[in-house]
Amino acid sequence: MNILLIGSGGREHALAWKLKQSSKLNTLFIAPGNAGTASCGTNLYFDVSDFGKVKSCILDKNINMLVVGPEAPLVEGIRDFIEGDAELKNVMVIGPGKAGAQLEGSKDFSKAFMQKHNIPTAAYQSFTKNNLEQGYAFLETLSAPYVLKADGLAAGKGVLILEDLQEAKDALKEMLVNEQFGAASNTVVIEEFLKGEEVSVFVLTDGENYVVLPEAHDYKRIGENDTGPNTGGMGAISPVPFANDLFMQKVTDQIIEPTISGLQKDGIPYCGFIFIGLMNVDGNPFVIEYNVRMGDPETEVVIPRLKTDLIDLFEAAHNKTLNKISIEFDTRTCAAVMLVSGGYPASYEKGFEISGIENTSDCNLFYAGAKNENGKVITNGGRVLAVSAMANELEDALQKAYNNAEKISFEKMNYRIDIGKDLLQHRTAKLSG
Ligand code: AMP
Ligand code: GLY
Repeated sequence: MNILLIGSGGREHALAWKLKQSSKLNTLFIAPGNAGTASCGTNLYFDVSDFGKVKSCILDKNINMLVVGPEAPLVEGIRDFIEGDAELKNVMVIGPGKAGAQLEGSKDFSKAFMQKHNIPTAAYQSFTKNNLEQGYAFLETLSAPYVLKADGLAAGKGVLILEDLQEAKDALKEMLVNEQFGAASNTVVIEEFLKGEEVSVFVLTDGENYVVLPEAHDYKRIGENDTGPNTGGMGAISPVPFANDLFMQKVTDQIIEPTISGLQKDGIPYCGFIFIGLMNVDGNPFVIEYNVRMGDPETEVVIPRLKTDLIDLFEAAHNKTLNKISIEFDTRTCAAVMLVSGGYPASYEKGFEISGIENTSDCNLFYAGAKNENGKVITNGGRVLAVSAMANELEDALQKAYNNAEKISFEKMNYRIDIGKDLLQHRTAKLSG
């Protein structure tokens, strides 16, 4: 099997690391990849948003399977492009077509989908600049905090949560009239605020059958105790202590099943991951968002726990035989701490040498914004690398990840020191309660 994996994050390094372990793999190419994926296969530097170049690469390298890491190429229709080209008809694509990718590409679409199929989610309404006044009126019916979401892809920045009604009205106007997020905020979803604990659930589906991967919890804010601006994710843990069997059964019955059957009823074929961002509200799951890909850094804790061969899973997803596969996991806990460039998620410098890597042990280093240059690994992005470690107990997995993180250094390196701490308390409370 010759595989082309698209993407350049820690997610893609974790996927490449797992694909490389498969006896079915012949060659692995990653476009554009990073310092980590270079150790699993061959990085190729071409513009992946140019589907013509993707086609040339597929033909040139005799690629059998295309695995799409990030959402943008899916929303832009990379699958439809490949399916529509006679020369590429035998290529297996892991990732949905344009129609399915709307689950992430349009919040308005995904909310309407959930409402139609009775999938629990926050009450909402959508607005454009033509009904701004109605938007203000809807905000007045809600109580603080107010949740405003740009309809389209906004690089993870399109969600605003505001405490003050006037601020929310001003923000709505800013998004709709002044195009704060460009075309992505031509439509804005306003929804009810859900109070609870977040958990991400990952499903791989062939459109009819599905397997559920281990769940994870992501730490999105830059600062300790979930303060400061949102980032792509500063760390993750899996499993999540409160996502017990009862909760996960509700997730399956109330969310996963109706999502898959909803796609079928709506005539939307789907082959790929669905990442369901959930809020646990007093023991009941509500969908915050769908993504049509794996999460980052969640992949860096989910994939190490996956025992099943990833190429077997992807082939079954393509062949619609996921019902015939038994998926196995490591029951231990995996924790990942993201090392980031000082200044991130605002402006930061790149090009610093990463040192101490050789002193780490008993962990996986999944690279994100890092590249090889003159025999050195240097920083090349905001999120630089995830230190991912496993142990029987969450506490020990965190300890191992942090012990290794301390051995690594680069100029202005930053990381959160409280990954998983809230859930340790949760677990203690649960044990004593
Ligand atoms: P999203 O980009 O949709 O994942 O939203 C970013 C973050 O905003 C989520 O991870 C939640 O922490 C928060 N969020 C989004 N929607 C809601 C909601 N309805 N209630 C509470 N928090 C929310
Ligand atoms: N870590 C959140 C995401 O991948 O969207």
